Amino acid sequence: MSTQQAEPESQEAPKDPEMQGAESPAAETQEGDGAVDQTSTDASELDGETVHIKVFRYDPEVEGKQEPRFDDFHVPFEKGMTVLDAVMYARDEYDSSLTFRHSCRQAVCGSDAFFVNGKQRLGCKTQIADLEAPVRIEPLPHQEVVKDLVVDMDHFYDQMHTVEPYFQDEDTPAVDDLEEQRQSPENREKIKMSSRCIWCGACMSSCNIAAGDNEYLGPAAINKAYKFAMDDRESEEIKEHRLRILEQEHGVWRCQTQFSCTEVCPKDIPLTEHIQELKREAVKKNLKFW
Ligand code: SF4
Ligand code: FES
Repeated sequence: MSTQQAEPESQEAPKDPEMQGAESPAAETQEGDGAVDQTSTDASELDGETVHIKVFRYDPEVEGKQEPRFDDFHVPFEKGMTVLDAVMYARDEYDSSLTFRHSCRQAVCGSDAFFVNGKQRLGCKTQIADLEAPVRIEPLPHQEVVKDLVVDMDHFYDQMHTVEPYFQDEDTPAVDDLEEQRQSPENREKIKMSSRCIWCGACMSSCNIAAGDNEYLGPAAINKAYKFAMDDRESEEIKEHRLRILEQEHGVWRCQTQFSCTEVCPKDIPLTEHIQELKREAVKKNLKFW
């Protein structure tokens, strides 16, 4: 079992962190700066004793660690090992200051979305064996980096709350008269996929439109609105209210159907399809184009 930790490779890290935090280098990688292509499969690493991971590092609070860089770790490989397992091992065995979020370890909490080998993925859902080595692990692109793999999610949460993500029923009966609010099986089937969102932010991070328009609601928030707008238990008036939020200048019409969000969603939600359907609904309601 190897306990080796190689030297940091500062030449691969960006050189201009912002005062408030580093802009993720992954944004450049995603545009094809060649960093991902530099990786090469070293079969002996996966078939043998270790897997080589390159982890983005940045700590604005520690002098000498404020320059973004990558650290190399060689982690003992085990069958079934995930990206999250690998970074946890690196933290536990080599460098306790390595910082990242995780909780459930079963693709439910949405806290460990990383940029792995050039794609947004959940660390706990991504098998190391399915990746080319060395495995490059970075924070989500287009978000401010707080430390190492941790990004600031406040803006993402703000956009999610903009669409009023809670059930609204004008005719809610008095508490004593409350009955089960039943939904037809067909309607349940229609919104089933949209209800799977775990707020991981991968889709928002992958979206070129969101990267260039900070006010764009983004795929996750629009999907959340879809869940409620298509729920038959809400009234037509509420549905129209929701569509008016969605057809605002920075709403559904910003989407250019690039499908990047749909491609990275770990819960397989057809985000682009949902956005297109909401556009059609807005047209039917004679709402405006931008
Ligand atoms: S829609 Fe998918 S990618 Fe986007 S936040 Fe929800 S689960 Fe994550
Ligand atoms: S740790 Fe919860 S989704 Fe990965």
